Amino acid sequence: MAILPLVYEPAAVLKKVAEPVVDFNDELQVLINDMFDTMYANNGCGLAAPQIGKSLSLSVIDTKGKGLEKIVIINPVIIETRGEHEMEAGCLSIPGSYAIIKRPAWVKVKAQDATGKFFEIEGEGLLGECLQHEIDHLNGKLFVDYLSSLKRKILTEKSRKIRKRLKRNN
Ligand code: NI
Repeated sequence: MAILPLVYEPAAVLKKVAEPVVDFNDELQVLINDMFDTMYANNGCGLAAPQIGKSLSLSVIDTKGKGLEKIVIINPVIIETRGEHEMEAGCLSIPGSYAIIKRPAWVKVKAQDATGKFFEIEGEGLLGECLQHEIDHLNGKLFVDYLSSLKRKILTEKSRKIRKRLKRNN
């Protein structure tokens, strides 16, 4: 078990398309376990590998946050969407900042599991939001990229100030 250090906006790794996972080996399984530990330690419901500084197309999700519904999506692609809804988004890479984002209400995703096997997963509500948010991370996109440049600037600067303050207090 290991809790990995998070990387924060504006780190370059968060803004590029993640490399595909090709080796489904023991090392990958250790990374997946560490990513779940890191996500739970930070009270997140999703974590993408770029958020711990690794440019790999891999995300972990648990919308309940209790270790009972662990989802791993590797090399995921959204293959179908339906509807539209608005939901408040936040991100461990931009702590302290939130915004309402408009997205498809339902998505179907094709991905590989930790062994490399392909599967499909559908989700709406929080799971649908989480799937889209984590796949965005793998495409180098953050939730603030959906906002106007002014709003994006306000939110990212707010988060940078919060992080600076936390660092000083530690
Ligand atoms: Ni995020």
